[in-house]
Amino acid sequence: MSLQMSCTFLISSIIILLCLASSVQSQNPSISKRIVGGNDTGIRNYPSYCTLLYMNIPVCGCALLSSTTAVTSASCLFMYDQSVLRIQVGSAIPGDGGNYAIRRSCVHPQFNFQNPFGFPDYDAAKVVIDVWQVTGWGSVISAIALRSMNYDVPTGKTAIVVGFGTKGWGGPRNQVLQALDMPRIRDIDCAKVYPNLTDRMACFGYPEGGKDACGASGSPLYYERALVGVDSFSRGCAFPNTPRVFTRIWNEDIHSFLTSSC
Ligand SMILES: *[C@@H]1O[C@H](CO)[C@@H](O)[C@H](O)[C@H]1NC(C)=O
Ligand SMILES: *[C@@H]1O[C@H](CO)[C@@H](O)[C@H](O)[C@H]1NC(C)=O
Repeated sequence: MSLQMSCTFLISSIIILLCLASSVQSQNPSISKRIVGGNDTGIRNYPSYCTLLYMNIPVCGCALLSSTTAVTSASCLFMYDQSVLRIQVGSAIPGDGGNYAIRRSCVHPQFNFQNPFGFPDYDAAKVVIDVWQVTGWGSVISAIALRSMNYDVPTGKTAIVVGFGTKGWGGPRNQVLQALDMPRIRDIDCAKVYPNLTDRMACFGYPEGGKDACGASGSPLYYERALVGVDSFSRGCAFPNTPRVFTRIWNEDIHSFLTSSC
């Protein structure tokens, strides 16, 4: 190889590497911090809803499976060390009511923050609250059942995601809990946006965009009095033709993880 050739080769290698790096980056899951287009709600409407607080800021959502355990996204525990998080139950006012330390957590053993396609897979975790029983258990606070194994949500049917956020794109963080209707999107349509959608993922959202549960990682998705999803990721926030992907609770691997002890 002449000097000129190897020089050209080196420069084109660098350009290819830079291009690869930027394409990986643009595929990264969006972890923005808002729910757009939802309604104000209160904890009494969703007594199993809980919040993971970091320095009194609601950073992730969760849902109670018992008086001492909750389900959230594994991504949330990947982003925030469990020792810096507090879990708040029975109130949707950050810092109000009972909030507790996390005794221990279990992340799905196959969780992968970025599978080869840049998205989290097996995005489920359980946290054990550091108290024998949370205050208010059975009165304002209760557990949510898991959607039965292999029971999909029919296409077009609307589930409800609950979490924190702002009322609009780019606005200040909303301090009021939000509830947002999310229609089920067919897997085949969702796979056009995310070609490597896995069996652990289910998509919900609006083809026209404008309403989304952005950044409310771990927030529960409810349907027919059961938990059907955990907010996992999306490309961008409330974009048209860009559904949000939830961890599919009725998937066997997710379901059996959540029903085994932690
Ligand atoms: C939000 O409010 C609209 C308008 O009142 C209502 O039709 C919808 O059911 C509400 N959704 C949720 C999840 O509260
Ligand atoms: C990922 O998606 C692409 C495009 O649909 C497909 O060709 C490829 O086989 C998929 N890879 C895996 C591992 O599923």
